Amino acid sequence: MDLGLKDRVAIVTGSARGIGAETARMLAQEGMAVVITDLDRDAAQETVQGIVAQGGRAIATACDVRSEAQVRAMVEAGREAFGRIDVLVNNAGLVKDRTLLKMDEADWDLVLDVTLKGAFHCCRAAIPHMQERKWGRIVNITSRALFGNPGQANYSSAKAGLVGFTRALSFEQAKNGITVNAIAPGYIETEYIKSLPNYDTIKANVMAKNQVTFPGQTSDIAGAVAFMASEHARYITGTTLFVTGGRYG
Ligand SMILES: NC(=O)c1ccc[n+]([C@@H]2O[C@H](COP(=O)([O-])OP(=O)(O)OC[C@H]3O[C@@H](n4cnc5c(N)ncnc54)[C@H](O)[C@@H]3O)[C@@H](O)[C@H]2O)c1
Repeated sequence: MDLGLKDRVAIVTGSARGIGAETARMLAQEGMAVVITDLDRDAAQETVQGIVAQGGRAIATACDVRSEAQVRAMVEAGREAFGRIDVLVNNAGLVKDRTLLKMDEADWDLVLDVTLKGAFHCCRAAIPHMQERKWGRIVNITSRALFGNPGQANYSSAKAGLVGFTRALSFEQAKNGITVNAIAPGYIETEYIKSLPNYDTIKANVMAKNQVTFPGQTSDIAGAVAFMASEHARYITGTTLFVTGGRYG
């Protein structure tokens, strides 16, 4: 199936590693030029080298999505390098888990700011470029945790908020040929998760609740993003696709 993405340009935030890096690799394999952007410039550069070694096109930029100035510079760097911006994947995110009474205000602010203010800045900077061509795709990476996880009041709030953001923006941008959707991963085995000392326990707990019999991989999310970014998804906007192995609550 031709996804119709060849020669289009994507920005993937938080793409130095994990789900973002795999998404960037898959979009590059589909013929897209990709802006790899992350707090971690060296790791972003390594992801770029991997893509270029496979014959793909990518640049690395360091950018904290909480900063409007850095986001605008990152989007401009993408436009300068590749001439246009067609797809934005708001993937940057993090957890700072604590039960509510032990949670610092700083950890509340950090998780909400990276998730929600980050998406706000990135969309505001990228959308005018999409409007120029009357075509765009915005894919927001939320989480199954939007239903509420203990110890994750900040993360669950941020990810639920991102779904509201997705729907509001989908109404605003449909007339401009821009779709806005969210993808909610369940447990996905990143290199980082595999490196945790309690990895075996985490995995066993998740597998007890999943319906499918194997843990999700970064390519499961990357494939869903590629579809949402494609021509084939032109009639889909404002929705949230759960990629969770059948786990919802
Ligand atoms: N792995 C999972 O099981 C899982 C499940 C549900 C949702 N998600 C979501 O998927 C996304 C990617 O997760 P992952 O597991 O690959 O995480 P990860 O920690 O491996 O990668 C996240 C990347 O985001 C970057 N980042 C963090 N703060 C940033 C900021 N302020 N500006 C720019 N970049 C920043 C980090 O440097 C990192 O490279 C996140 O939004 C996460 O919440 C992951």
